[in-house]
Amino acid sequence: MNPFDRYQFESLSLKGDLSILSATHEPDNFPHREEQISRMADAMSSLLMGMKSTHLILYGKTGTGKTSVTKFVTSKLSEKIPDRIRVCYINCQNYDSPYSIMVNIARTVLGPERIPQMGWTLDRIYEYLVDGLKGCQKNIIIVLDEVDKLVEKNGGDSLYLLLKITDESQGISGSIIGITNDTSFYEKLDPRVRSRLNKESIVFPPYNSEQLRDILLPRIKAILPEDYYDESAVNLCAAIGAQEHGDARKAIDLMRVAIELTMRDSAKKITNDYVYKARDNLEIDIMRETIKTLPTHSKIVLLSVILCGEIHPNSATTGEVSAIYNKLCKQVGITPLTQRRISDYLSDLEDFGLISTTLKSLGRYGRTRLIRITGRENDMKRYALEDQDLKTLSEIKQNRQYKLDENL
Ligand SMILES: Nc1ncnc2c1ncn2[C@@H]1O[C@H](COP(=O)(O)OP(=O)(O)OP(=O)(O)O)[C@@H](O)[C@H]1O
Ligand SMILES: [Mg+2]
Repeated sequence: MNPFDRYQFESLSLKGDLSILSATHEPDNFPHREEQISRMADAMSSLLMGMKSTHLILYGKTGTGKTSVTKFVTSKLSEKIPDRIRVCYINCQNYDSPYSIMVNIARTVLGPERIPQMGWTLDRIYEYLVDGLKGCQKNIIIVLDEVDKLVEKNGGDSLYLLLKITDESQGISGSIIGITNDTSFYEKLDPRVRSRLNKESIVFPPYNSEQLRDILLPRIKAILPEDYYDESAVNLCAAIGAQEHGDARKAIDLMRVAIELTMRDSAKKITNDYVYKARDNLEIDIMRETIKTLPTHSKIVLLSVILCGEIHPNSATTGEVSAIYNKLCKQVGITPLTQRRISDYLSDLEDFGLISTTLKSLGRYGRTRLIRITGRENDMKRYALEDQDLKTLSEIKQNRQYKLDENL
């Protein structure tokens, strides 16, 4: 028997390809982003006449369309003047030094064979790039996605040389489009950079649930006949996306997973239940990935919070968590860290959303931090115990023993 037979998907016959709901799909229609698209086009329109364009900074929370709208608008500009423009898209999460960015731009504009990946100085690459641009009379748009990562890592003047490429005095027209989630990004820049960055800011606000519905529906209609989905299931995806700070990515992911789960069950219709199941699946996936990448000590701290919560259901204190942490370290043969480092790990776990803490006043005895986990304890425990170094702990079942068995 072929193990893939059960994925025949006979229940739903798709009109189109599910990839329309994937991260790589690049739509050519963006409901509720008309204003942003038109302002970006306005700002870049001077490039059509070979004149300098203003730099842009796009702000907005995750999943609000910044990257995809930028790719769309710049590709439309390239369609208009294919011989006169080069667009370099750089994700500063992957290329996070001015050097690697400069190499990348030079290779995109002048061809990879002309610039070695390393060996040249930054100045040499810069000169070569500027000469090359002048020689071929090209305008340049440099998209710096997640630009806050670049500045965070390299300091407030790391944009300086990149801005210089697009400077009028060089005889080249160009502009930089910086994309960020960080509303204080501009303030963090070096004054020297700020004065060069005569920018226009465009905000991508979070979507509300009606707007997310308008984004979802055309994609769903392209792949599914109407009687294959409940309208309320679409509304539910949109509502959950809106709750998650107006995130279109979340709404689209939910719909894709809901369709996959419906097919796997050979069911006939995408209902609210499948959307709820999809939400659980996505949340578990994220939690598992987050826990998997934690350092071992951090996983032990997390396990300690979980075990402590089982003993003290109404929230554990830092002291109680530390006591269990020390016991667990002893059991796996790892030297325990200081109280201070444990507190750092607790803060990290809180940043990842795995635990939540509240401060409780103890009157004249000061204050204490009460700690709780935020997800399902059994799932969290299972994922933390997937760590090779924590194998000896996989016997943890009944946790009250940590309170009773002082010899551990
Ligand atoms: N108005 C819209 N119309 C259609 N699809 C949209 C719209 N806004 C966002 N999307 C889709 O939502 C997903 C997320 O968008 P995008 O990657 O552009 O968000 P982002 O603002 O760059 O998020 P992040 O800050 O996390 O990088 C993409 O698949 C994109 O196609
Ligand atoms: Mg993005």
